[in-house]
Amino acid sequence: MPEQKRLSLAGIGCGSRTRTYMKLAMEQKDRYRIAAAADPVKQRTEAVRDFAPEEERDSIRLFKDAASLLEEPRLADVAIIGTQDDYHYAPCKKAMELGYHVLLEKPIAKTLKEALELRDLARQLKRRVAVCHVLRYTQFYRTLKKIIASGEIGDVITFNANEGVGAWHFAHSFVRGHWGNSKTSTPMIVAKCCHDMDILYWLMGRRKCLSVASFGELTFFTKKTLSSPRPERCTDWTTPVGEDPWDARKYATDDECKRWLGMVYDRAQEATAEEICEWLETSPWGRDYLQCDNDQPDHQVSIMRFEGGLTGTFTMTAFEQGRHIEVYGTKGKIRAGAFYKENGPGEITVTPHFGGKTRVVELEELAGGYQGHGGGDWGLVEALYDDMLTVPSPADMTTSIEESAHSHVMAFATEHARLTGQVVDVAEFERRVMRGELDY
Ligand SMILES: NC(=O)c1ccc[n+]([C@@H]2O[C@H](COP(=O)([O-])OP(=O)(O)OC[C@H]3O[C@@H](n4cnc5c(N)ncnc54)[C@H](O)[C@@H]3O)[C@@H](O)[C@H]2O)c1
Repeated sequence: MPEQKRLSLAGIGCGSRTRTYMKLAMEQKDRYRIAAAADPVKQRTEAVRDFAPEEERDSIRLFKDAASLLEEPRLADVAIIGTQDDYHYAPCKKAMELGYHVLLEKPIAKTLKEALELRDLARQLKRRVAVCHVLRYTQFYRTLKKIIASGEIGDVITFNANEGVGAWHFAHSFVRGHWGNSKTSTPMIVAKCCHDMDILYWLMGRRKCLSVASFGELTFFTKKTLSSPRPERCTDWTTPVGEDPWDARKYATDDECKRWLGMVYDRAQEATAEEICEWLETSPWGRDYLQCDNDQPDHQVSIMRFEGGLTGTFTMTAFEQGRHIEVYGTKGKIRAGAFYKENGPGEITVTPHFGGKTRVVELEELAGGYQGHGGGDWGLVEALYDDMLTVPSPADMTTSIEESAHSHVMAFATEHARLTGQVVDVAEFERRVMRGELDY
């Protein structure tokens, strides 16, 4: 049998996400090969190189940043773009122009206008651009999609969906972290919930969202919550560690908090508690969670109307953990997600309206026990090969930029609805952004 082609990868921005994908790709060395890596932090490009088999490491080109990698002619089949939200557009555009296909982290770009430009460029240059909507690759959502598509609950009429970001995760990422300030990243409903917009659009059979209304505020994670003054850094607090549940010193003492630290501090696992505390003295993650420069809402509710009369609600909150959804059809209903997993009778249940019992759906275990994003990271890497090489066209990819762009329109339109208090016509919103009449 002829040897199968190995898909070559160039990592641009070798932070937490790109390293995750590269590591998983190197578990399938017969299908993937690392060709290059770029990041201003040298250890991160070296870490990517070191995932590769020893005999291939010398041939892997390492670069100090995206621009220097992209000055060269194309070095790989696929560029993985895992830089921060405000630096997706330029490397993605350049990579496509050089002939790369792209695995692009979400959000597609910092602004909707740029995201739509990248979608149009991919179309024009016939590049395959997959957006990392990892939820689509999880067993949980694949199973839900199958049930809905099978017609078991009839025609879907309405749904309620909830995304519980999680109290510590919210403070880590959306108060102290990279996405705390919408001006330097993207609005919460884009930064975090573009995944939800995408999954809802996909689950509901790609029925486009027509209009949206939304309310949400930053209520708790703000200076207004402080009852009396205290030092701006938790490392200067004199209270017992952990007395306050969001005390940053817990990064040094609590394993779950340390896991989050690992995403932003390369030495999180091996560093001593003293080293971590020293690092926290100057790092954004050492700040009091009530005295940061954050502006993202910590709760937001949205109501949406889709093609075919479908309606839905979506709630994002810092004060719940995990996603859950109820889908109501003409023949039955589905209840699914973290809440039901914890409170029974099962993570996914299907209940017919007339006669018949509630069916508890068993989820298949993922090979290798991959749990990142419910197995989504593993599923994404698994699918990347076919998405880039064998499916007939970009329309057959698991998450093409073409589809993802609609979820970004939904998300930015939802933010516009929240900020203006209006019901927003989604298609008209997209046209106005493209004409430059609205600045998103
Ligand atoms: N798909 C998902 O579920 C998911 C989850 C988390 C984050 N994300 C997204 O992934 C992206 C990356 O997130 P992360 O957590 O890996 O961030 P990160 O900060 O760990 O990684 C970003 C990397 O880019 C590097 N970088 C900065 N400037 C650069 C330049 N000029 N050239 C090359 N590299 C440069 C940084 O040094 C860093 O290593 C973000 O856009 C984020 O929103 C997606």
